[in-house]
Amino acid sequence: MKGIILAGGTGSRLAPLTKVTNKHLLPIYNKPMIYYPLQTLIEAGIKEILIISGPGHAGDFVNLLGSGKEFGIRLSYEIQDEAGGIAQALGLAEDFADEEDICVILGDNIFQDKIEVDDFKEGARIFLKPVEDPKRFGVAEIKEEKVIGIEEKPENPKSNLAVTGLYVYDNSVFNVIKTLKPSSRGELEITDVNNHYVKEEKMDAKKLKGFWSDAGTFESLYRSSSLVKKNQ
Ligand code: G1P
Repeated sequence: MKGIILAGGTGSRLAPLTKVTNKHLLPIYNKPMIYYPLQTLIEAGIKEILIISGPGHAGDFVNLLGSGKEFGIRLSYEIQDEAGGIAQALGLAEDFADEEDICVILGDNIFQDKIEVDDFKEGARIFLKPVEDPKRFGVAEIKEEKVIGIEEKPENPKSNLAVTGLYVYDNSVFNVIKTLKPSSRGELEITDVNNHYVKEEKMDAKKLKGFWSDAGTFESLYRSSSLVKKNQ
């Protein structure tokens, strides 16, 4: 299995912190944000990882992480020319994936758990976490322990289970992405990809045990630093 870290986007919700740098280079307690998703993939046993970022700060990621040798892995880099959504960025990883299964992580997601991917066979897997403010996330609707649908940032969430920014897919995901249409916010949505697998009954959902936080807003950036400090 190969790993992909999505580190693009403009980070507009964190302006002016993101005026001259990329969100994923900002500190979470004592490390640059991207170290955490990188560590999550490494702990899952993944050795080949692609970092996708925008054109503005791609060189900074190379300066920070280099070949990956320091971490005992191999890193590659890809540029997303214009921010067009998570699924659009993921589509750029098709050649890198080269028919293998992939584990995709959003560069601003901080996970405490060690993630299990070794038993993954086919379709897709997501990781759920109960949250107090589900409206900010993709939210899973559950019936008899099964995910029957996912809504992106719903006004009236059907559960408190956020779909976290960690996804495992088999190689069919690249064909699914090619069928997507932009959402009302003009992006190719990862939630549309996931709903495809839900409909096909090829979606497996795991619940996380440890803490999880995104870090794309001032509140969540601050919370992530506190959680990391508290649990170090
Ligand atoms: C994205 C996804 C959302 C997911 C979240 C996790 O939202 O679209 O489904 O729950 O990441 O961090 P974003 O925060 O990028 O708008």
